Formats: sequence, structure tokens, C-alpha cells
Amino acid sequence: MTDGQSNLEAQLLALRIDGEGAISQADTLEYLEELRVSYLGKKGQLSAILGSMGKLPAEEKPKIGAIANTVKEALQTSLDNQRKALETAKIQAQLESETLDVTMPGIFRPQGRIHPLNGIIDRALDIFVGMGYTIAQGPEMESDYYNFEALNTPPDHPARDMQDTFYLPDGNMLRTHTSSVQIRYMEAEEPAVRVVAPGRVYRRDTVDATHSAVFHQIELLAIDEGLTFTDLKGTIKVFLQEIFGDLPIRFRASYFPFTEPSAEVDLQWNGRWLEVMGCGMVDPNVLKSVGYDPEMYTGFAAGFGVERFAMVLHQMDDIRRLYSSDLRFLQQF
Ligand code: DAH
Repeated sequence: MTDGQSNLEAQLLALRIDGEGAISQADTLEYLEELRVSYLGKKGQLSAILGSMGKLPAEEKPKIGAIANTVKEALQTSLDNQRKALETAKIQAQLESETLDVTMPGIFRPQGRIHPLNGIIDRALDIFVGMGYTIAQGPEMESDYYNFEALNTPPDHPARDMQDTFYLPDGNMLRTHTSSVQIRYMEAEEPAVRVVAPGRVYRRDTVDATHSAVFHQIELLAIDEGLTFTDLKGTIKVFLQEIFGDLPIRFRASYFPFTEPSAEVDLQWNGRWLEVMGCGMVDPNVLKSVGYDPEMYTGFAAGFGVERFAMVLHQMDDIRRLYSSDLRFLQQF
């Protein structure tokens, strides 16, 4: 045995002891990888020792080569074992940190519900759709033409007053009723017509217990050959019965520019007559303004305030409760 041989053998054994010790102490996967590179990498310590094997006599190389292989395998085994141990520990730690305590109280999320105004709109639309009506909509900003003129409303009509209508600087306005949708729908479609149009409307009212500057209406329009006031009464009666139950109703003569004859509908509620909607036979001038032939077609229209229905139905004393988003109030519906 030459000195060179015993020296290399000693180095290899020292490398093994040193390496196994360091690997077994490694506490992260990253550090373990650094050790692998340092011991077994291309430019690592084992390669460095083997690099000096060249100087050995040929007959001694196989023995040193065999020892080098054993050292390499031993270090590789240590690395593999330590990697497995660290990975297992990592998963274990993760599992422990993510453990669910199923006995903890849950987070209470109150159930949402339909707003009373939407509730009435939904019910009304359902009833009319059930009678064959289609739902229509129109813009909330309207021109004088759609809001008044085409609806046969004369220039001096009080509704056109600056005191009652929100006029915009460009001469348009916020619609004061959903009746404007009648005109838009008839302009776009040929008769026969059966439409129901819900929407927001605007009036320059001072807000109090029974008034709001923004509120909701539902508009009804039916145009066909041979429709009469009887059809109007029957439709309204069925609708009001569905909503309020079998209460007495009466039709009282009234006036609207866009209907002739016109009527208001009263409902007997807790012994009092309450006015709940306006209606009438569509004025021939309105039919003419949309190009329908009034000699051939007749029809009826009606409109009512959703807030009014809500207040009667739920016995509310103040319209403002509907807009206050107070859960103590809204949770009752
Ligand atoms: N547009 C009316 C209002 O806002 C309500 C109304 C009355 C609508 C009679 C109609 C109708 O369609 O025929 O007070």
C-alpha cells in the first residue's frame, strides 16, 4: 500500500463521517440541497478527492474507486433519508397548523330577503304575465314628447308645472309617470298590445310620510280590436283580488289627459275607501300619435303606485321606511 493510497482512503472515510454528520443535522430542505452539492456535486468534495486519484499507481485505483463508490452511496442514502424525514415533518407541521376545530361556533350570516317594494312588483308582474302580458321598460330621463305631448297632455296642464316636474337643463325631464312607456312601446310595435311596465318615477314633492320625490309605478296597456271598458274592469278586478283578496272595489269617474273615459279605482280597506289606481280607455289622440288607427283599435290603460300598494298591504304609516334600509323594518317581510 502506498502513502498516496492510505491518504486518499483516510480522506474518503473522513468525508463520509463528516458528511453523514452534517446531513443528519440539516433542518431544511434548502440546506440539505446545499450539502448535496457540496459533497456529491460536480465540483464537490468527493469529486475533488477523486481528482487526485490520477496520481495513484494503476493497480491501486480499483480499490480506491470501490471505497469512493461506497462513500458516495452512503452519502446519497443519508441525503435521501434526511430529505424524506424533512418532507414528512413539513407535511405534518402543515396538517397541524391547518387543523379545523369543528367545535368552534360558526359565523352567523343573516338570510337576505326580497324588499317589500320588489315583492309587490314581482307579484304584480307575475299576475299580468299570467294573463298574457309582456314586460316592457323605458328610460327614466324622458323628453316632453313621451312624458306629456304624445300622451295628449295640454301645454297648460298642471303636471307640466316646474313645481311638479324635475326638468333637466337640456329641456328633458325625469319622467313623472310610467305612462311614457305606453308611447315608446306602441311606436315600436304593431297592435295587438298587452304590456305591463314597472319603473321608477320622479316628482318634485316634498318628502313626508306619504310622499317621496322618487317612487315606483306599474303601468298597464292593452290595445286590440274591440276592447271595451268591461275588459278594463275585469282585468283590474282580477288583479286587485289577487293582490288584496276579495275586497269590495269601485270605479269612480275621473280625468286623465291620456284616457277617455277615465276612472279611479277605490278599494275598501278596514272600512275605508282607498284610492289605489288610475285607469281608462286610451284616448284616440294617443293612438293617433303612435300611428294606430283609432277607428280600428281601442284599448285600456292603468297605472298605480307600488309604494301605495305596499303601505296598504302591510299597514305602513310612513313611506320613508321603505327607503331607510333599516333591517329591523325590512326583516319583517
Ligand atoms: N300616469 C298616471 C299618474 O301618474 C296614472 C295613470 C292613470 C296611468 C290612468 C294610466 C291611466 O295608464 O290610464 O298618476
